[in-house]
Amino acid sequence: MAVKNAMTSDFLHSAYGGESMAHMRYLIWADMAKKEGFPNIARLFEAISFAERVHAGNHFREIGGDTADATVPAGAVFGVGKTVDNLQGAINGELHEVEQMYPVYLNAAKFQEEAGAQRSFHFALEAEKTHAALFKMAQDAARQGKDIELEAIYVCPVCGHTILNQAPDNCPICGAKKEFYVKF
Ligand SMILES: [Fe+2]
Ligand SMILES: [Fe+2]
Repeated sequence: MAVKNAMTSDFLHSAYGGESMAHMRYLIWADMAKKEGFPNIARLFEAISFAERVHAGNHFREIGGDTADATVPAGAVFGVGKTVDNLQGAINGELHEVEQMYPVYLNAAKFQEEAGAQRSFHFALEAEKTHAALFKMAQDAARQGKDIELEAIYVCPVCGHTILNQAPDNCPICGAKKEFYVKF
């Protein structure tokens, strides 16, 4: 069902645009990390890129179909630098979402009683917290010229929850079963 209220609709469009850009930006930064000799940091960018696509897909579905134009504020770095700097851009973007964007969007959706948008914003807000922490860990390594140590990264395809090395029995954010997690 399409979203009913204009304000929540605007926020869904904005979040869809922002997540779409984050998805692409992380793929580009993954290429840079590979070239710099950080294959595991590259894998982290690719895994989290997939999580942002999950968020974009959730928001896109909740918009529910319209043909209007939407202006999307980027709220993030454009361009490529060294991986350590790209990771700072990633951390800044994730923290912006965790501290400002999604709390505001989620509260607007609650106020307007938009259940679908609430779910979509809640999933993204909680998942972005995991991303911010993982990017900080990666930046600590990159600052010392090291790659991160990693067996695998698992991403929940329902909410974007991201975790290293082993998927939980159930996603702590959305409850999805372990076998649904996507491995990178
Ligand atoms: Fe994220
Ligand atoms: Fe999940």
